[in-house]
Amino acid sequence: MKKFILGTIITVLLLITVISVQQGLLLAKPLPYDDEQTGLSTQITIHLSHVVAENTPKGQAANKFAELVEEKTAGKVKVHVYANASLFNDENEFRALQKGDVEMIVPTFSKMTTYVPSWQVLDLPYLFHTEEQIHEVLTGTIGEQLLAELEPLRLRVKGLGFWYNGFKHLTSADQPIHTFEDLQGLRIRTMPSRTLEKQFEAVNAKPTSVSFSELFTDLETHTIDAQENTASNIYSKGFYKVQKHMTITQHGILGYAVLINESFWNSLPEKIQKQIIAAMKETTEWQFEQARSMNDQDMQKLMQQDHFNVYTMSKQERLRFKEQLTPVYDFYKTHIQTNDILTEIEKVVTP
Ligand code: LMR
Repeated sequence: MKKFILGTIITVLLLITVISVQQGLLLAKPLPYDDEQTGLSTQITIHLSHVVAENTPKGQAANKFAELVEEKTAGKVKVHVYANASLFNDENEFRALQKGDVEMIVPTFSKMTTYVPSWQVLDLPYLFHTEEQIHEVLTGTIGEQLLAELEPLRLRVKGLGFWYNGFKHLTSADQPIHTFEDLQGLRIRTMPSRTLEKQFEAVNAKPTSVSFSELFTDLETHTIDAQENTASNIYSKGFYKVQKHMTITQHGILGYAVLINESFWNSLPEKIQKQIIAAMKETTEWQFEQARSMNDQDMQKLMQQDHFNVYTMSKQERLRFKEQLTPVYDFYKTHIQTNDILTEIEKVVTP
């Protein structure tokens, strides 16, 4: 009996050995080093928070960026997008980014002027005439120079680039705005930028800084009479439902700074950083065209709304508005300007 059991054990061991050798389990060489293999266990997650609807230029750009980052890092980095201020809003998103409670945010450059005053150059009225000029400034060497201005401020954030929305126009509650005189006395919402406030003080309006997520309610309750924004924001946020008039002015531009927490960025392997930068560049080129198309479509939808009158300022009315806003340039040059960026931009935009 003992011999039988011993024989059985030896036979089973022999079978296991033969099968293991056939399957290459016993004599296999160690796997070659592959950071993808070793790294897979450390999935990197980026939480990206922003304050507008998904179906907007910024919302679409954020989703495109998330798609491209996952593609270019072969799934090692995943970007979770939180739209519509569902994670953080205008008031708390920047502080959250600095603390690392969120890895990326995409605020308008106007809202960043609280921390980077020199970016108010982008808020100057009637500075840009075409979207080609805006693209050249925001995605070229001038844009890089603006992003580099973050570094000495030691804000613990890094700028990856600029995205674009569109030209800004005006909406108002009870009276249409045909000339700049119609703005007199109106409580008009601005983003927190001294240059934007000066712009409306120059026409004797009453600028009030209100967060984007509270603006609809303030317009609905007539706490605020008017506001400036792009067609896509006016449509996607439903401002046409609580305002009766829109005036196509193209008096300024709305764009975004794509920001990442600096220590998180520095913790990433260089290879991953390069892949994220490649995703950023491809997204930026894609979204400039996407923004133009979305604003065109949303402008058409606004014009089709009942009880919402869309007026286009004539060339003469726009010229008078621009002339009335000249003191804003004096304010910028006297109180804000610290470098020659306005001169550099004027070389791009001067026909
Ligand atoms: C605004 O506050 O009007 C804009 O910043 C909204 C946006 O596009 O982020």
